[in-house]
Amino acid sequence: MMLDVLFKIKDEQDNSLSFRRSCREGICGSCAMNINGVNTLACLSKVEKAATGVGTKIAPLPHMFVVRDLVVDMANFYAQYKSIEPWLQKKDLDKSKGPVENYQNKENRAKLDGLYECIMCACCSTSCPSYWWNSDTYLGPAVLMQAYRWIIDSRDDYTDERLAKVNDAMKLFRCHTIMNCSKVCPKGLNPAQAIAKVKSMVN
Ligand code: SF4
Ligand code: FES
Repeated sequence: MMLDVLFKIKDEQDNSLSFRRSCREGICGSCAMNINGVNTLACLSKVEKAATGVGTKIAPLPHMFVVRDLVVDMANFYAQYKSIEPWLQKKDLDKSKGPVENYQNKENRAKLDGLYECIMCACCSTSCPSYWWNSDTYLGPAVLMQAYRWIIDSRDDYTDERLAKVNDAMKLFRCHTIMNCSKVCPKGLNPAQAIAKVKSMVN
C-alpha cells in the first residue's frame, strides 16, 4: 500500500517526512491524501507493481492549509463537525431515573446504514470546489452527511432544530451538486445523496 511506501521513504531516505496515520486499515481516516490526483486513504491505496517509468505523485489534501509535508490543518473541519452537534440529544430527559436505554427498531436503525460508516477522513470535502473556495462558511459534504445522520436518527428529539441550523445559503446551499464527494469517498459512501435529502427536508 502507498502508506508502506511512505514508511519506507521515511525509514530509509528522509526521516523528516511527515504524514498522519494510525490504524493502517481504513478505519481512522488519518492517512487521507491526494495520490495521483485523487483524494484517498494511503493505507487502502495499492501500489501498482506493474507500472514502470511512471512516477506516483502524492500531495496533501487539496486546498487545505499545510502544516508540514502531507499533514494538513484539520481545525476548521473539526470545528464545523462540532457545530452540528454530532451526538444524541433528548428533550424532557428525567435524570432522576438514571441512565436509560434509547431503543430503536430495525427499520429506523437501517436508515443509518451508509451514514454511520463515515470515518471523517475529509477526502470528500477537500475534493469539492465549493468547499475549496468557501470552507469558512460552507459545511462541506462530510459534515452535512453527518448532520443528516443525526437529523434522521429516530432516537433524537432535535430534528427541527438541526434542520433550522443548517438551512442557510452558505452552510448548505453552497452545494451545487458537483458530485466529486460521492465519486471519491474511499468508504463507498454517498454524501451528495445525503445533502440532497437535507435540502429536500428544509424546502
Ligand atoms: Fe471520508 Fe467518505 Fe466520510 Fe467523506 S463521506 S469523510 S470521504 S468516509
Ligand atoms: Fe487509518 Fe489509513 S491509517 S485510515
